Amino acid sequence: MRGKFLTIEGTEGVGKSTNIDFIRRQLLARGITLTLSREPGGTPLAEDIRDLLLANRDEIVDETAELLLVFAARSQHIQAVIEPALARGEWVLCDRFTDATYAYQGGGRGIDLEKINSLEQFVQGDLRPDLTLILDIDVKVGLERARQRGELDRFEVESIQFFERVRAAYLSRAEEHPHRYAVVDAGQSLAQVQEDIAAILLRF
Ligand code: TMP
Repeated sequence: MRGKFLTIEGTEGVGKSTNIDFIRRQLLARGITLTLSREPGGTPLAEDIRDLLLANRDEIVDETAELLLVFAARSQHIQAVIEPALARGEWVLCDRFTDATYAYQGGGRGIDLEKINSLEQFVQGDLRPDLTLILDIDVKVGLERARQRGELDRFEVESIQFFERVRAAYLSRAEEHPHRYAVVDAGQSLAQVQEDIAAILLRF
């Protein structure tokens, strides 16, 4: 039987890493074999593309170039990691996927969503996550946390307004397709966040 494809999303500093570990333990306890991965990245080539995308540079990065790099990495990741794992019956939990493109390149950069939609069809065919968890937090609180982690990458240096647009794009996708998304209030205590996540996983 084909595995399930789960993704986790959110703006900066929302606590993805801690909660990914929690989800991994929840699924393992139920005997589910899990492949963990992330985007951009997940294969040697895709991780190289990640480095290109995140590096601060003097040159202004063209937003279409950024969009195509994101999908180039994704194509490699799908063919080399995601599809084979799902076909083996494993579940895949990915730290970000195409919802991040709708949020960052669509919401944040203002790229026409139709363009993202065409690339999604072209690169992914029918592949879509079965469940996407959106960790939602006040943008300022999240940025504050992220900025304590040290050096900022090319996305983390963006303005509050940029991240407000990213957040709004995530929430609007969740509203459009309520059965595929679950929004978790990541501003609560960690114990409450994890209780909410456990309930969502159980329902799923
Ligand atoms: P991370 O550090 O949270 O893993 O994310 C890397 C950055 O890449 C994050 O700022 C969001 C950005 N990103 C996009 O802009 N578009 C995408 O499609 C993906 C997957 C990530």
